[in-house]
Parts: sequence; structure tokens; C-alpha cells
Amino acid sequence: MTVVGGTGFLGRRIVSRLLDRAVDVRAVSRHPHKDKSASGKRPSQQIEADILDPSSIAAAVAGSRAVVNAVSLYVERGEQTFERVHVEAAADLATASRHAGVEMFVQISGIGADPKSRSNYIRARGRGEEVVKAAFPGAVIVRPAVMAGPDDLFITTIARLVQILPIYPLFGEGGTRLQPVYVEDVAEAVSRLALGQHSTAASIFECAGPRIYSYRELVRQIASQLKARIVLVPVPFAVWGILATATEFLPAVSLTRNQVDLMRHDNVAAKDLPGLEELGIEPRGLEELIHMIDHKARAGT
Ligand SMILES: NC(=O)c1ccc[n+]([C@@H]2O[C@H](COP(=O)([O-])OP(=O)(O)OC[C@H]3O[C@@H](n4cnc5c(N)ncnc54)[C@H](OP(=O)(O)O)[C@@H]3O)[C@@H](O)[C@H]2O)c1
Repeated sequence: MTVVGGTGFLGRRIVSRLLDRAVDVRAVSRHPHKDKSASGKRPSQQIEADILDPSSIAAAVAGSRAVVNAVSLYVERGEQTFERVHVEAAADLATASRHAGVEMFVQISGIGADPKSRSNYIRARGRGEEVVKAAFPGAVIVRPAVMAGPDDLFITTIARLVQILPIYPLFGEGGTRLQPVYVEDVAEAVSRLALGQHSTAASIFECAGPRIYSYRELVRQIASQLKARIVLVPVPFAVWGILATATEFLPAVSLTRNQVDLMRHDNVAAKDLPGLEELGIEPRGLEELIHMIDHKARAGT
């Protein structure tokens, strides 16, 4: 089994779930030595390859029964554009997998992926799904909601900010609806799909948590669980867009334009698509996760 992006936030948990089942797993990334896995589990093979380089990718998938594409790109840099990584390279990976005789291909996308979106990022995610399905008939698309877990970028950032800021700036009025999901639940879903341990023939799964929050409610919930006093202040999306454009290349800042674009739209699972429940997974609630995330952040792990 090959997990491309197998050292990432989601990818290394997929690797870990597969190793738990004694599956031979290859983790592929450009910097395999940067694997931050806290579980101590090591993939059977760590392969250095760039999804933008078709020859190294062909070698990485050779002999695999299933391939998972868990590569991310959140900020465009040089030849690393959303189109190049999420569309062209995803199609190349799916094609290489088909040529190598791979039986199952799982493409990690995101809720809200839309090939007609005005946002470059959201459009590339939607087009990526289309090209993967064309290149690998039978491919399965997994669209996670915003994922939470120790070392995430979203809930951890809110948890940190509510504890240091007296005033918390909201995206717009804070009305965007979100359905955060525990990253381990998504990893389990992807593992079951990659191993063919599912009874539904569906090709798109939307993986979301048990509860829908408005962004405002989410910040309040996190602040209240962490006993932080906070005043919420609406900030127009146009202001966030300018801020993200000015700061997204700074290493210490985790605000990007695609994040602002995503926050303009509700990010909740479609009622007519299967998800965690259909895969036999009971999603973990945010209440349980907030203290875990805060504890890990304080411990610096
Ligand atoms: N995080 C979320 O809340 C969230 C929500 C919805 C959907 N998703 C989607 O879930 C997927 C995984 O996201 P994530 O948050 O786990 O990402 P991540 O932590 O940034 O991990 C990305 C992985 O891809 C590898 N990678 C990046 N560029 C590569 C390239 N050119 N060639 C080979 N490997 C490459 C990275 O390692 P190297 O940098 O060493 O190559 C790393 O292993 C993405 O498709 C993302 O859009 C994430």
C-alpha cells in the first residue's frame, strides 16, 4: 500500500492505521526525514519522491495494491500551483497507479470542492476529483471537513488565540457553518476504503464530525472549554483577503487566501452522500478533542 503525503497531518495517521493492521505501507513525500509521527510507528518504507515528477511517482506506486493521495498545497509557490499539484499531478499519480495495476485509488479532496468555483483553490480541488476519476475508473474520493487533532492548524490556532487575545476577530459575522472532524476518524475511514473494507459502492465520501457549529459558536465553545474570556468582533472578508495576501508567505503566519475563500462558504457534509457512519465509524465530538489539543499544544508536542 502506498500513501503519497504519508508524512503529513492526515497521511501519517493513515499510515499508522494501516500498520496497526499489519499492512506493508510505503510513505511517500519529498522530505521523508521530516516525519513527525508521535506514535513511534515507522512505515515499512519511506520513499523520497515528488508528485510533480512522474518518473519518481511511477517507482513509488509500483507493486502496490492501493494508493492514497494525501498531498496538500495550501499556498502557491513557483511551479507549485494548485492546478499543477491538485489537478495535473493528481491525474499523473492516478494514471501511474492504473498502469501499475493498482486495484484501489483514494484521492483526498475536501468538502466544498467545486470545479466551477471562482476560487483557484476550490476549483482545483473540484477539477482534481474529475481528472482522477477519469484517469482511474473506480477511484474513491474522500472529502474531509476541517480536521481537528493535536498539531492541527485550525482548532489549535483558535485555542491559542482565545487564550492570549482579549478581542477575537471573526471571519465576517462568524456565521459560516463548520462540522469539524477528528483527523483519526478520517484516517480510519481512508484505511477502510483503501483496504476495501466497506460495503457501499459509492465513490464519494464526505467525512465530518457529529455537530455543526457556526464559526462564532465554535470559537465560543473553545473559549468556554478553556475558560477564556473573549469578546468576538466581526471583521469583513475583504479585510481578511488583504491580510492573507500580505502575510501568507510568512512562515509564522498560518492565514492563507484559500483559507479565507473556504471560510466564505459553509463546510458541512452533504446529507445525500455517505460518510463516516456508512463506513461504520462513530465520529468523535469536538468537546472531547479541545482539551486533548490544548494539552498537547502546552506540552509542545
Ligand atoms: N487539514 C485539514 O483540515 C484538511 C481539511 C480538508 C481536506 N484536507 C486535505 O487533506 C489532504 C492532506 O492534508 P494535510 O493537512 O494532512 O496536509 P499536510 O499536513 O500539509 O501534509 C501533506 C503531505 O504531502 C506531502 N507533499 C506535499 N507536496 C508534495 C509533493 N510535491 N510531492 C510529494 N509529497 C508532497 C508532504 O510532505 P513533504 O512536504 O515532505 O513533501 C506531507 O507528507 C490534502 O489534500 C488537504 O487538502 C485537509
